[in-house]
Order: sequence, then structure tokens, then C-alpha cells
Amino acid sequence: MGLFGKKNENYISSKETKRISKENRRITGEIEKKRNRKNIPESEYITTMKNPDNVVEFDNVHTYFFTDIGTVKAVDGVSFEVPQGKTVGIVGESGCGKSVTSLSLMQLVQRPQGQTVEGEIRFNSGDKVYNIVNTPITEMQKLRGNAMSMIFQEPMTSLNPVFRIGEQVDEIVALHNPTMSKEEVKARTIEMLKLVGIANSDGVYRMYPHELSGGMRQRICIAIGLACNPRLIIADEPTTALDVTIQAQILDLMRNLKDKINSSIMLITHDLGVIAEMADYVVVMYAGRVVEKGTAREIFKNPSHPYTIGLMRSKPVVGKQVDKLYSIPGKVPNPINMPDYCYFKDRCELCCEKCSGSYPGVIKLSPTHEVSCYRYADRPEAGWLMGEHLGKEGASER
Ligand SMILES: Nc1ncnc2c1ncn2[C@@H]1O[C@H](COP(=O)(O)OP(=O)(O)OP(=O)(O)O)[C@@H](O)[C@H]1O
Ligand code: SF4
Ligand SMILES: [Mg+2]
Repeated sequence: MGLFGKKNENYISSKETKRISKENRRITGEIEKKRNRKNIPESEYITTMKNPDNVVEFDNVHTYFFTDIGTVKAVDGVSFEVPQGKTVGIVGESGCGKSVTSLSLMQLVQRPQGQTVEGEIRFNSGDKVYNIVNTPITEMQKLRGNAMSMIFQEPMTSLNPVFRIGEQVDEIVALHNPTMSKEEVKARTIEMLKLVGIANSDGVYRMYPHELSGGMRQRICIAIGLACNPRLIIADEPTTALDVTIQAQILDLMRNLKDKINSSIMLITHDLGVIAEMADYVVVMYAGRVVEKGTAREIFKNPSHPYTIGLMRSKPVVGKQVDKLYSIPGKVPNPINMPDYCYFKDRCELCCEKCSGSYPGVIKLSPTHEVSCYRYADRPEAGWLMGEHLGKEGASER
């Protein structure tokens, strides 16, 4: 019973918490035991890509957090792919599972409570294809920073404040080039600093992180991330902490470097402007699931899921007078207790009778454009109807 004698749905007694916690320990203990075995045979984690043109294939991935108040299904059946040489943007509001998706790919989800419990994440490292979900830690350490690398949102937390920039980049360069002499490592570091647009690279080599601006620190992180020509760059909100002009420079830099080393980018952001500028493909997430995906053109010209339409409407447009920016009404459902119907239903302005059924399946609107929404269930070809709701522009592409 909650306050004032009214039953509180979110209330959990300490006895119940203990029971959940014990059950969690049993589940995560079993997974950890399996993972920590010695000499895991390659047959358990080496696999093949469904499409050899992809670098990454997320296939029905479920990553859960086993907490004392219940299981948080942070990523709940996510599927999408990253083609070679392309940029895939992942959008969605705070807490929808963007970071947990990328951390699952790096096997950096907080363990033991965080676990990928189902699905496959296939990663093509160049010589082998790994199912990351089953890959042992020793193998992951070889992949991270080599074949895949990550650029985080806040550069200050990725750099060590007590070491000079030169030492930190040197360390990474030396790690990936064990045969290089000290002088060669330093020369390569300085070359990398120049490559990411740091003018006074000899000076910066001797500086500490706090002596640099936010934009410079992010450039250093990009230099570290790209030190080994990764096949895949995972960038989680790489420019959120920077002002707009620096943001544009950093995005330019990432795009140029990506083309130079011919890698792919998985770009996580809640900024549609960044997506429009960078992405070839867009994945829209809502409450741990992919609700729509397609080429950037399809998503911008013909947004079809009501949530994507809402996102587009909440974006400010230069030169357009509005009294108030549109915001999607309502709240995301509680991640511990997800409903068994469409997760967006309680906020959806386009909800229809069919929407009370179970969670909607995937409907193909084009070979590259997919949406999970009942409005397309009978007439997949009628995607333009939703564009019309947005305005004329949306309908014109079809
Ligand atoms: N270590 C953790 N323990 C428990 N729950 C977690 C943990 N990390 C993340 N979560 C939960 O997983 C869900 C997805 O989180 P995630 O960090 O992926 O969101 P996000 O889409 O990256 O949001 P943001 O835009 O704010 O970065 C959230 O409900 C969050 O509370
Ligand atoms: S399935 Fe129904 S409730 Fe869910 S997004 Fe589509 S129209 Fe809205
Ligand atoms: Mg995040």
C-alpha cells in the first residue's frame, strides 16, 4: 500500500526486492559463468554475414538490465545493418536505448547486471565475422580500438586528466604498432594531431587535457579513435557538448576521415540536423525498439511512423514563424513494465482501432524503408497518407 492508503503500482516491498535480486543473481551468474569459460571454441562465435556488403548486422538483439526493481528491457529486439563505407544515424529520445545498442556492439554494457540475452550482432572485422554476443573478452580486446572504435559524447571523461595529450595518443599508437620505435610513435602521433586539424600539434603534444578547449579535446578523441584505421566508428553524441560552429567542423572532419580510411560510421544523436548532414541511412528507435528505418531521404521526405512524424514536427525550421515548437505529448512507458500493445499508442495522435492488438509487426514500404505501425498493415503502398499528415512535401516523393 502506498501513501494515504492508495495502492501504488510502483511500490515494491523489501521482501519482493530481495526475491528479485536473488533471481537476478541466478540469471546473470549463469550467463557470466558461460562467458568466462576458458578456451571457448571459435565455432561458438565465428559466423558469416547475411550480406557480405555489411560491416555490422544487428539481428533481433535484446539487452536487458537485471535491477532490484525488475528487468529493464533497454534494447528489446533491435534489427538493422550498417553497410560498408556508409553512415547510419540512430535517432530517438533520451532513454530509448541508443547508447545501450552501441555498447552491446562493443561488449561494454555494464556487467553483470547488463546482459545481451538474445539475438546476434554480426561484425565483419575484415578477415573474420564475429557474433559479438558470444565473443570471449580476450577476442573483444583485439577488436576494440582496432577494427571498431568509439567516440564518446564528453571528451573530458574519455581523456585522462593527469597525463599529457602526447602520452595518451602515443600509448594507443604504440599498442597498435608494437614494432615502432619511440621516435616513430611520436612522429605518428604528431601526424595524427595534424590530421584532425590541430594547428600547433607540437605544442599540444605536451599539454594536459584541461589546457585545451572542448572542440580540441574532441579532435584528440577522434585522433585516438582513428589511430588504427577502424572499419567501424561508433560515435555516441560526438558533438552534443560543442557549440554549433565547432560541431560543424567536427562533423566535417569525421566525414573526411571516414572517406580517407574507407570506414563506416554508426552515429548516435538526438539531433536531426546532424543526421540530415551526415547519414546515408536512418534508424528511429522508440522505447528499446526500432520503429522505422530507411534511407535518410526516405525518412526525411516520407516519415511514416507517427513517432518519426512527431520528431520531424518538433524540429525548428529556419524562416518559419511558429508560436510554439511542437512537442510529442505524453510519456514513454515504464521500461520495466512494457505494455503488450504498440509502445507509442498512449501518445499517438493517429491511433486507430487495430492498434489495440499486440505489438505491430514490420511492414516494408520500399526495399529499404520499413515501419512498425498498424496504419500500414492492410495497405503497405499507402505510406504517402502519413506524409500528407506532415504537409505536402512528405507526400510528393512517392
Ligand atoms: N547500467 C544501467 N542499469 C540499469 N538501467 C540502465 C543502465 N544503463 C542504461 N539503462 C537503462 O536503459 C535504457 C536505455 O538507456 P540508453 O543509455 O541506451 O538511452 P539513450 O537512448 O542513449 O539515451 P540518451 O539520449 O539520454 O543518451 C534507459 O531506460 C536506461 O535507464
Ligand atoms: S500502431 Fe497505432 S498506436 Fe502505434 S504508432 Fe501506429 S498508429 Fe500509432
Ligand atoms: Mg545515450
